[in-house]
Amino acid sequence: MLYIRWNEENELGIDIIDEQHRGVVSAINSFYYGVSQGLSKQSLRLTKGMLDEMTIMHFETEERFLKQMGYPHLHSHALLHQKLLVKMGNIFDESIANSDPDPFLQFLKSWWLHHINEEDRTYARYLKINGKLS
Ligand SMILES: [Fe+2]
Repeated sequence: MLYIRWNEENELGIDIIDEQHRGVVSAINSFYYGVSQGLSKQSLRLTKGMLDEMTIMHFETEERFLKQMGYPHLHSHALLHQKLLVKMGNIFDESIANSDPDPFLQFLKSWWLHHINEEDRTYARYLKINGKLS
């Protein structure tokens, strides 16, 4: 039933970031559920809107947090976020036009699991090594 099952191994040890990552995953799972239930394109657009808001809110939180922490690679990290938003919009539009949600879902799953466990883990490791996290 769940498209992505949250795993403790995905956690970075930063409460609000982990919480929001779970929220994004939850929104993706809700989109998947809507697809599995055969919801209309209009309903899927609503769920996609929720995912957009969760994603933008999370990126704002994370970028503010990294700025406060003085993370030296904030700019390149924020660029990855911007690229995700553009690509997510494009793939969603294609998926709706083709009535095929699979590429959209597969893209989200692979992007988020990679981003959390590679790029986000990189800053978490940096902050820990530099004594910026308790
Ligand atoms: Fe990130």
